[in-house]
Amino acid sequence: MGRPGMQMETWVLFVAFGCMCVGQALADPLYFVPVPAVWESGAQVRFCASLLKVDKNDKHKMTVTLLSPELNTTLLQKESNQDFHTCSTFLAPLVIKDTVQHFQVEVIGKKMYSRETRKVLIRANKPVTFIQTDKPIFLPGQTVYFRVVTMDTKLRPACRKYDIIELQDPHVSYNLKY
Ligand SMILES: *[C@@H]1O[C@H](CO)[C@@H](O)[C@H](O)[C@H]1NC(C)=O
Repeated sequence: MGRPGMQMETWVLFVAFGCMCVGQALADPLYFVPVPAVWESGAQVRFCASLLKVDKNDKHKMTVTLLSPELNTTLLQKESNQDFHTCSTFLAPLVIKDTVQHFQVEVIGKKMYSRETRKVLIRANKPVTFIQTDKPIFLPGQTVYFRVVTMDTKLRPACRKYDIIELQDPHVSYNLKY
């Protein structure tokens, strides 16, 4: 007479345990998308994305997006009903001052929806400007040829626009429109 009771208990335990397993296996695949928290403006950024414990009957879609007030950029989009590990590179946005943007990972399946957003800091390159004239010394009335080159900290040409370039000497000041 004790035996049916035992079976009942075992069955109850099994259901409870079974439910937990189903909940974890079907609803919650694991995903990891590590990315550096600080990026350098215009530099290459590499990140890897992993999706694990995927239910084979449920296709999951992972979308990695960089969000800014002006522009959302899709960095990775992958659909799969199998575990995957994939890496990707992209160029960090060019910014002229340190900027915080949002790195978003969204995973959608039939039985799950997850969206996580992390802040990333994009550091501006402090540019250096060189001004060069064609000669070190000029005679009165001679034409002065000059060039202006702006480079970032890695000596790559920086995209800058100058509205006014001013030439000064102790007695007179010229405004040259550029
Ligand atoms: C970028 O995406 C966010 C959230 O998905 C949305 O609220 C925002 O309007 C989008 N911005 C642009 C510029 O498309």
